[in-house]
Amino acid sequence: MKPRVVKIARLPAMLDEALHATYEVVEASDDGTGIGAATADIRAMVANGESTVTRELMAQLPALEIIAVLGVGYDGIDVAAARERGIQVTHTPDVLTDDVADFAMALLLGIARNTRVADQFTRSGAWAKGAFSFSRKVTGARLGIIGLGRIGKAIARRAQAFDMSIAYTGRHPQDVEHAYFASAEELAAAVDFLVIAVGGGAGTQHLVDAKVLEALGPQGYLINVGRGSVVDEKALVQALAEGRVAGAALDVYENEPRPLEELFAFDNVLLTPHMASATLDTRKAMSDLVMANLRAWQDAAALPTPVPT
Ligand code: NAP
Ligand code: 8YV
Repeated sequence: MKPRVVKIARLPAMLDEALHATYEVVEASDDGTGIGAATADIRAMVANGESTVTRELMAQLPALEIIAVLGVGYDGIDVAAARERGIQVTHTPDVLTDDVADFAMALLLGIARNTRVADQFTRSGAWAKGAFSFSRKVTGARLGIIGLGRIGKAIARRAQAFDMSIAYTGRHPQDVEHAYFASAEELAAAVDFLVIAVGGGAGTQHLVDAKVLEALGPQGYLINVGRGSVVDEKALVQALAEGRVAGAALDVYENEPRPLEELFAFDNVLLTPHMASATLDTRKAMSDLVMANLRAWQDAAALPTPVPT
């Protein structure tokens, strides 16, 4: 008999197919509603980086042994509650690092060179009436990275090809050549582009607040490929409205998939729908890693990518 697995997130079709081929899949909604009454023999859960898996949801699944997350971020999973129950949690690090770093650079370049508005300008025929306004030079500019982990370091490598100077903040200085600042506020004051590459959760909630935005200043741009919860979005809207930051490019939001509508009003804001890792190649690699973790769990072998302890 196929083991029963509950799916609480929308997944790439290729992962859906692989899951259905191997397991009896119970489809539930993002918050777990729809799991139904027949939960006693559900032994695995598949979630994604945006999923919320609470202690209460786990309590509905007495036989749960593993939560396999499609995504590197797992801030929505109550890992402590899972550990208490001996439920293993896995994620998909490394395989998405390049895409997310590439996309951070795409957002940085896009907002600095105003490509979204320039596209509209070209299509609308406005070009025939005059030249497009000047934009901001990226090569040689100062980059600040919040969270110099796998993705942060990959962004730094790309930025070096643009001759950018690189600084970062994190909980600890690392053995790297880049300048370390102990706080996001100090970092923001020292850079032109502030990129968030840190995960979500209580430790980073509103790390970028009104003070950090003030420090970034009217010439500074904010780019977020980490988690929406890291930015106080209301403070960002206010800073944009008052011209206290130069612009923002965001892939992640406090409330997904419905970002603050106030953000839509600004030309100096570039918005994308949490898509930094969404290339076919990477989603295939992420899907394969989810399946590899589930296979190892079934074989009682070492899990390829458990979340760190
Ligand atoms: P990682 O290697 O664990 O890097 C996270 C970094 O954040 C670490 O270097 C850590 O350094 C730093 N950090 C942790 N807490 C911090 C704090 N309070 N203040 C400042 N820095 C802190 O993770 P990763 O693989 O690079 O992924 C990072 C995040 O990117 C994920 O958690 C996810 O939220 C996000 N992500 C988004 C997308 C997307 O589609 N937009 C895709 C993939 C990932 P210290 O321990 O030294 O502080
Ligand atoms: C994914 C992510 O978009 O890895 C993460 O933490 O946020 C992204 O790669 C997501 O988890 C899949 O829905």
